[in-house]
Amino acid sequence: MCGIVGYVGQQQALEIVVAGLRRLEYRGYDSAGVAVISDGELSVRKKAGKLANLETLLGSDPMPQSTTGIGHTRWATHGGPTDSNAHPHVSEDSTVAVIHNGIIENFAELRSELAAAGVHLASETDTEVVAHLLAHELPNADDDLPEAMRRVCRRLEGAFTLVAIDRSQPDVVVGARRNSPLVVGVGDGENFLASDVAAFVAHTKQALELGQDQVVVLTADSVTVTDFAGEPVEAKPYLVDWDASAAEKGGYDLFMLKEIAEQPRAVADSLRGRITKDGRIQLDETNLEEATLRSINKVVVIACGTAAHAGMVAKYAIEHWTRLPVEVELASEFRYRDPIVGPDSLVIAISQSGETMDTLMALRYAKTQGARTLAICNTVGSTIPRESDAVLYTYAGPEIAVASTKAFLTQIIAAYLVGMYLAQVRGTMFEDEIRRVLLQLEDMPSKVDLVLDTTEGVRELARDLANSTSVLFLGRHVGYPVALEGALKLKELAYMHAEGFPAGELKHGPIALIEDGVPVIVVVPSATGRADLHDKVISNIQEVRARGARVIAIAEEGDEGITPFADHVIRIPVVPTLMQPLVATVPLQVFACELATAKGHDVDQPRNLAKSVTVE
Ligand code: F6R
Repeated sequence: MCGIVGYVGQQQALEIVVAGLRRLEYRGYDSAGVAVISDGELSVRKKAGKLANLETLLGSDPMPQSTTGIGHTRWATHGGPTDSNAHPHVSEDSTVAVIHNGIIENFAELRSELAAAGVHLASETDTEVVAHLLAHELPNADDDLPEAMRRVCRRLEGAFTLVAIDRSQPDVVVGARRNSPLVVGVGDGENFLASDVAAFVAHTKQALELGQDQVVVLTADSVTVTDFAGEPVEAKPYLVDWDASAAEKGGYDLFMLKEIAEQPRAVADSLRGRITKDGRIQLDETNLEEATLRSINKVVVIACGTAAHAGMVAKYAIEHWTRLPVEVELASEFRYRDPIVGPDSLVIAISQSGETMDTLMALRYAKTQGARTLAICNTVGSTIPRESDAVLYTYAGPEIAVASTKAFLTQIIAAYLVGMYLAQVRGTMFEDEIRRVLLQLEDMPSKVDLVLDTTEGVRELARDLANSTSVLFLGRHVGYPVALEGALKLKELAYMHAEGFPAGELKHGPIALIEDGVPVIVVVPSATGRADLHDKVISNIQEVRARGARVIAIAEEGDEGITPFADHVIRIPVVPTLMQPLVATVPLQVFACELATAKGHDVDQPRNLAKSVTVE
C-alpha cells in the first residue's frame, strides 16, 4: 500500500526514483509524485492516476538535475485520488517535502491545531500535516531535519512510513517507520530508502531492516539509525537473494501470466532442503522447538484474502495428519472478538508480503496472549516474520501482480510442511505414511506443469463467458477453499459478481441465485480418492443444472462419471485429495486472468486494489 522511494548519491535522482516507483507501482496506483532538491530549492511534480501520467508530465515539465530525491505511488486513504492529494506534500514555506505510507490516526486533531495556527492546508490528506509539522519543528531542532522528524514522530499516532527532504539540507534523506514497511539499500557512494527492496535491487543487494519506531538518516556515504528518542540503534543487514530480472515480466505480457507459469518452480523451491533423503521433514531453519510443538493443543491460522484460503486448505490436511484442531481466522476480525488463544496455541500467520496490517495486528495480539507464533511468508526481512517466534519462508520469488497466484500454492506447501512436521514430532503418523505424503508433495511441480500445458480450453471458455454477470464456484472439502479462491480471483480481476460456496450449502439459500445460463464452476473431488464426496458433488451439480445453470466441472483425468452432468469439463491430473488444491486452483487463475483480459482490464493492477495492504 503506497510505494516509497528515496535516493541520495552521485547519479540523477529522478531517474532512479522513477525507475524504483515503476517497480513499486503494484503497491498503489491512484497517483504518483516526485520531489528533488536543486540549487537550494525544492522541485515537485505529481499527478493523479498511474505512474505513466506522471511520466508524461515530467516529459512536458522537466525537473532540474539533482542527486537527492524522493518519490511516491499512492493507494488513497484520506482524500480521493487527485493531483492535490498526491504526494509529496510540501510545507507552506516550501522548505520540506514529505511522502507517507500508512494512516496517521490523530491527523484530525493535528489538522485543527495547524489550522488554528493559521496554516493553510492544501489537500485532504493526513500526510500534509507532517510537512507543516516538520517545518514548524525545524527551528526548535536547530534546523536539523532528523531531529525535527523524531520530534514530529513522537506526536503521531497510527501506522506510518515517512520520508522527507529539506531544501536547506540537500544531501540528506530522512526516513521514519512505525508499523509500515521501510528498508534501506546500502550502495557504494549512494544509498536508498524504499517500501520494498524491488525498488533498488538493480543497484544494490545490501539491505538493512529497520525496526519499529526508528528514524534513518541517509547521505551518499552514511546510514545512521536512531529510535524516536534519538538513541542510536543497530539495523540488521541482509542480502537480497534475488535478481532484478525476477521482478520483470521476462517476455510475458503480464506479471500475472509470468507468475502463474512460475508455479512449478516456486513449489519445487519451497520444498527444497526441507525433506531429507530418508523421507523426513527437517525444518531446523525455523527454530521451532520440538518440546513446544509437543505441548500445543491447537493451531490457529491468521491470514487475509488468498492467504486465508491457503490456511483453509491447510486446515483439512493438518487436522487429518495431527488430530490437532485447526482454526482459520480472518486476521481483520481476530483480535476484536476475544479469541481463545494462549500458551498452548501455535499461531501461524500466513502472508505473502509480510506487511499486511490486519495480520500483523492479529499476530501481535496472539503474542500478548502468550501464543507461540510462526510466520509463513514470502518476503524476507518483512515485519511479520521479524515479529514472529519462528519463520518458514516460501520461495515463490517476488510476486508483483496484485492478484496472488504463486504465493497461494507455496503457502499451501509451507503449511503442509508444518503440518507434516507436527505429525512427525508428535508421532501421529507412521514414518512410511510421512514418506508417502512427502513423495506426493515432491510430485506436485510436475503435476502443476501438466495443468499449465493444457490451459487453452480454459482460456477459450473465459473469453466465451466474458459477458456473464455472475459466476458461482462450488467445492467440497479442500475444493471449498479452492472455490473461494476462484471467486476471489474473478472478483478482483474481472469486477464481476462471483461467489464460492460449499457445494452442499447451496440448497440452504444460495441456490436462489441460479437462473438460466448462470455459469457454475465446480471443483469435483477425486472419483478414486473420495468417491463419497464425488458422488455428493454430482448430486449438487444436478440440483443447479435442473435450475438452468451452465456447469463447468474441474475434474480429474479419467473421471468419466462427470461427463454427462457437465456442459464443459476442464481436466486436471489425478492426484491425492489433499494435493488437489495445488492443481485445481491453476485453471481458475488462468480463467480469471483471461476473462479480465477479454474485458480489457488492467490485470496486473486491478482497480481499487493494492498489493500490500498496510492499513487496517
Ligand atoms: C488476492 C490477494 C489478497 C492477499 C491478501 C493478503 O489475490 O492478493 O487477498 O492475499 O491481501 O496479503 P498477504 O499475503 O501479503 O498478507
